[in-house]
Amino acid sequence: MTRKPNPAPATRLAILAIAAAFALPSSAAAPKGEPFGTADGKTVEIFTLTNRKGMKLRAMTYGAIVQSLETPDRDGKTADVVLGYKTLEEYIKDTPYFGAVVGRVGNRIANGKFTLDGKTYTLALNNDPGGIKCSLHGGLKGFDKVVWQGEGIEKDGVQGVKFHYVSKDGEEGYPGTLDLTVTYWLTDDNEWKIDYSATTDKATPVNVTQHSYFNLKGEGNGDILDHELTFKAAKFTPVDAGLIPTGKLQDVKGTPLDFTTPHKVGERVNADNEQLKFGGGYDHNWVLDNQGGKLALAATIHEPTTGRTMEILTTEPGLQFYCGNFLDGKLTGKSGKPYNYRNALVFETQHYPDSPNQPSFPSIILKPGKTMKSTTVYRFSLKGGKP
Ligand code: GLA
Repeated sequence: MTRKPNPAPATRLAILAIAAAFALPSSAAAPKGEPFGTADGKTVEIFTLTNRKGMKLRAMTYGAIVQSLETPDRDGKTADVVLGYKTLEEYIKDTPYFGAVVGRVGNRIANGKFTLDGKTYTLALNNDPGGIKCSLHGGLKGFDKVVWQGEGIEKDGVQGVKFHYVSKDGEEGYPGTLDLTVTYWLTDDNEWKIDYSATTDKATPVNVTQHSYFNLKGEGNGDILDHELTFKAAKFTPVDAGLIPTGKLQDVKGTPLDFTTPHKVGERVNADNEQLKFGGGYDHNWVLDNQGGKLALAATIHEPTTGRTMEILTTEPGLQFYCGNFLDGKLTGKSGKPYNYRNALVFETQHYPDSPNQPSFPSIILKPGKTMKSTTVYRFSLKGGKP
């Protein structure tokens, strides 16, 4: 066996320095946008954010969509835990809001109508649960289908990307020019942090949220029925057959919507319960215990086979939890696997659905001179031994 002679001390130091630089992925620089295709005649850019714990998030200027989110399991094996496509074309063609920011008003507005300061506004009817029409997620071309401006940023060694979009007065039927910024950060505490900020020149409803589909086993790796959920929410907003809130707040106690202690999704999702029948499973807004507008824990999601755990913190008063009841295997994801029934979970931190028509709900009306600010954090960790 031949051995190479040891390098001289100076060379050794240089080798060590180079090795160290590669071992610690540098998060110090602002990420640069790379071309990801074209939408509306504009170049769409994608940004890759990394942290020092092996997490990676890719987000693009089309819809402020998070295209992938990679995070290790308890054996150090990394998986992409959000659903999505490989190419921009697929996002443009057909997506149930995979990874996007939705709005101007996320979730439903009854009959696509609301009245503000004595004037009635009419929106496109783009959704019809139970055969009853409503406006969903901002309309036909909501914030999930437009090209935003993107800028890679860095603060104290943490990488981020800032998306900016100006929605015109009258766009999708909404009043006022809305100037909206959504910033994603990937911190070394394994947090995907989202900061929203918006101003307007006329009073307008605003309820923007993130619509990522999570599967903590990894996208395409089967259903989510074994995921365990805990919500800091003693009440929810019951809905009618069109998934529009009745306006009442109902205690979760004694119902399959009680996640005040941990329960697996699959445990009660098919229970004989009118609310679950309307939703085709879970598709409801939970009224979070924290109504103070300060960042607080809203939910904990745990996947026992990988140990992956995701905590959701938010300043918002509500959490829409949807368990992929409309996925049916027709869409094929980025790794070539079909997305089947209940293969993902969506947690939309938000104000309550149909708020513009529900005077008793916290208001989503933004007025000129005011700034809407909102923060949500998806924080990843590992919990438990092998099941
Ligand atoms: C939200 C809604 C669901 C569904 C999804 C998108 O979560 O509440 O009913 O429309 O968006 O498919």
